[in-house]
Amino acid sequence: MEERSQFSSKFGVLAAAVGSAVGLGNIWKFPYVAGQNGGGAFLVIYLICVLVMGFPALMMEMSLGRMAKTSPIAAFRKLTGNDRWTFVGVMGALSSFMVLSFYFVVAGWSLEYIYQSVRTTAFNGMNGQDLEMLFDSFAVSDCRPYIWLTIFVILTGMLILMGVQKGIEKGSKVMMTLLFALLLFLMVVSYFTEGGREGYEFYLKPDFSKIKPSVILQALGQSFFSLSIGVGVLLTYGSYVKKGNIVTTSLQIVTLDTLVAIMAGFVIFPSVFAFDIEPGEGADMAFIALPAVFSKMKGGLVIAIAFFALLAMAALTTTVSLYEMLVAVLVDSCKIKRFWANIAVGVLTLAGAVVCCHSLRPGTVFQIGGQSLFEIFDYVVSNYMLPLGALAMMVFFGWAYDQKKLHDALIGFGMNEGFYKVYMFVIRYFVPAVIVLIMLNQFNIVRI
Ligand code: PHE
Repeated sequence: MEERSQFSSKFGVLAAAVGSAVGLGNIWKFPYVAGQNGGGAFLVIYLICVLVMGFPALMMEMSLGRMAKTSPIAAFRKLTGNDRWTFVGVMGALSSFMVLSFYFVVAGWSLEYIYQSVRTTAFNGMNGQDLEMLFDSFAVSDCRPYIWLTIFVILTGMLILMGVQKGIEKGSKVMMTLLFALLLFLMVVSYFTEGGREGYEFYLKPDFSKIKPSVILQALGQSFFSLSIGVGVLLTYGSYVKKGNIVTTSLQIVTLDTLVAIMAGFVIFPSVFAFDIEPGEGADMAFIALPAVFSKMKGGLVIAIAFFALLAMAALTTTVSLYEMLVAVLVDSCKIKRFWANIAVGVLTLAGAVVCCHSLRPGTVFQIGGQSLFEIFDYVVSNYMLPLGALAMMVFFGWAYDQKKLHDALIGFGMNEGFYKVYMFVIRYFVPAVIVLIMLNQFNIVRI
């Protein structure tokens, strides 16, 4: 087997894991899912999910990787000596493929919007309706969406080819800081947008009558999606970690990721209301609301280009994490050379992305009951596959694995005894019970 890459520093892994977590899920997806599910009420449920479900689950997945020191499928084999848990890794690989299939499409959109920023001089003079038309005509056009997504697949493959260390670690640090600064700046700009008040009310005033079981499912799914939980990506990154306190690292990842999502909401919602965009608009919301902010701004061109470029880079550090996991699975479990694994993953995910992109065109065969494959992949992965993947890992972690070994490992990763006791209760009973309850409710077996 080829030598496993290692991160050069504690900060390297943190940067890479944050790079995986922060992406389109925060800026493109979070605002529109929040918009569709009641705004403020969703925000509250989301934050609760992040804290009591996401944080423990993230720590569990990172620890599993750190204990196994190998990629998902091989990890369970290595820890147990048998193949009984291999299905968790296989399911994770499938999730990873499905996420990449629609993610590459949206990542491609961010490249298009760099181009559009230049072409329209930061969307100068365009109103909400113009921006909606601009998006709609692009998303179903014959050529450009496919070219952009292909470029994105190639970029990702090339970064992987350059190796984990150089590729991910260096880029993440600089880019994350810049993205953070730009979002802060845009929050201020958005605050002063005329007509934006209503956006704040929608986003910050929870209307609890809007909370239905389906909203809870979406909040759970979105929190796992945003934190990259349940696929095996964090397990893979965890396997590269040698030192550092697991609790602190996990808390940092969760905090940064959540901050970026909340900030994106602060940028987007005022603009949604100021420009008469529907808050339940759907997958195109960010690509209408953000250009609307830029169109009104002095110096909007530079900011618009910088923003979409950073969005593309944030997406790139995420696609790299998913792609790397699939490559690692092929290398570690099928003993394929890294180079060929890279090519195979590239070809496969490119095919998935082309199909997802095509499914957005009205009346194609890639739709089921009026829903595009793009939407179906997104919905099924986030709301079912990730929570169930995490649940399976948790059952392994808290029940099937040797608890004495687990205890020693976690203490070795920097947990103290008191925290360990509470943590194990949460991971053995609380989180699994909540996931099971939400799922049973979803399938009408139990009514919440
Ligand atoms: N967390 C990523 C984002 O928010 C998406 C992702 C999901 C990445 C699952 C890896 C695994 O953009």
